[in-house]
Amino acid sequence: MSIDYKAEIERLKKDLDVTVVAHYYQRDEVFEMADITGDSLELARKCKADENPWVVFCGVGFMGQSVKVIAPEKRVLMPKIACCAMARMIDGSYFDDSVNYMVEHGIAKEDILPITYINSDASVKAKVGEMGGYVCTSSNAFKIIEKGLETGKKILFVPDRCLGQNFAIKMGLKSCVIGEGECDPKEADVICFNGFCSVHQLFTVDDIEFYRNKYPGIKIAVHPECDPAVVQAADFAGSTSQLIKYVNELDPEQKVAIGTEYNLVNRMRQKNTYVLSSTKPECPTMNETTLEDLYNTLKSIEDNKPINEIHVDEHTVKYANLALERMLAIK
Ligand code: 13P
Ligand code: SF4
Repeated sequence: MSIDYKAEIERLKKDLDVTVVAHYYQRDEVFEMADITGDSLELARKCKADENPWVVFCGVGFMGQSVKVIAPEKRVLMPKIACCAMARMIDGSYFDDSVNYMVEHGIAKEDILPITYINSDASVKAKVGEMGGYVCTSSNAFKIIEKGLETGKKILFVPDRCLGQNFAIKMGLKSCVIGEGECDPKEADVICFNGFCSVHQLFTVDDIEFYRNKYPGIKIAVHPECDPAVVQAADFAGSTSQLIKYVNELDPEQKVAIGTEYNLVNRMRQKNTYVLSSTKPECPTMNETTLEDLYNTLKSIEDNKPINEIHVDEHTVKYANLALERMLAIK
């Protein structure tokens, strides 16, 4: 007999002290089952405030890890321990190499303030925390960089070169990318690691021109993980929640093309809303989680044999927590 996953998930949620969490990029059928939804910043804040001892997190690895770091007493399970491709581009040793690069180019270690995008492993967040740095998300990067600049130090921004450059441009700061052309840390305010999101790289200035030619007057809204040339050409750039708000506040007759992950854009799609790409910009790892995976994970709690539990060692929790809490303290 086949299992009615939706009905079983509802039953398990009632029977267990569990909160199901989903990022906006999850498949619709998984997203609909969640008690808590949001973008990265909202999820971090809401999970911290949530009181259930069990969290089942539908998203990518760094998100589940972040909950464990913020609330180590919670048991955090992930239906799929799927990894964000950008987060995989940097580990502790690449982070150390970036710090060394700056030191070799005349910046003392004490004069470096690292900021890591939340899309990074807990081990990278811990290194950032140990150096007095911050985590940021695409919602609050402006405020966090502003806060970092108050220290008078050089900002080392990891791992997303696009986010780092986009906010530097917005704030009128000089930036450079390690390994890309001349990158002299003495000449720049924000020194970026050379990581990127393969999904958001799919959007191009040609796509923008295509839509503007086809629908004169159309608005273009993109995520700041897109290339700086795309962000500069767009009408609006913002995090997932900021994009949703922007589109909701437009006149219903206003056409808009959106450059971010497909599941989210598809959910927002109305008659005047388009995906800014001729290909389907799905995040492959966000798409891995299925209803069956969610059911199996909840059932494993009921059966007292939890699967896919997130563990983070004590040292990493201690220092990654510093970097995350410094971010959460900034309103
Ligand atoms: P948000 O901070 O907008 O949720 O972005 C997360 C992400 O992975 C974007 O690709
Ligand atoms: Fe990571 Fe990009 Fe997927 Fe976001 S869309 S989770 S940055 S790979």
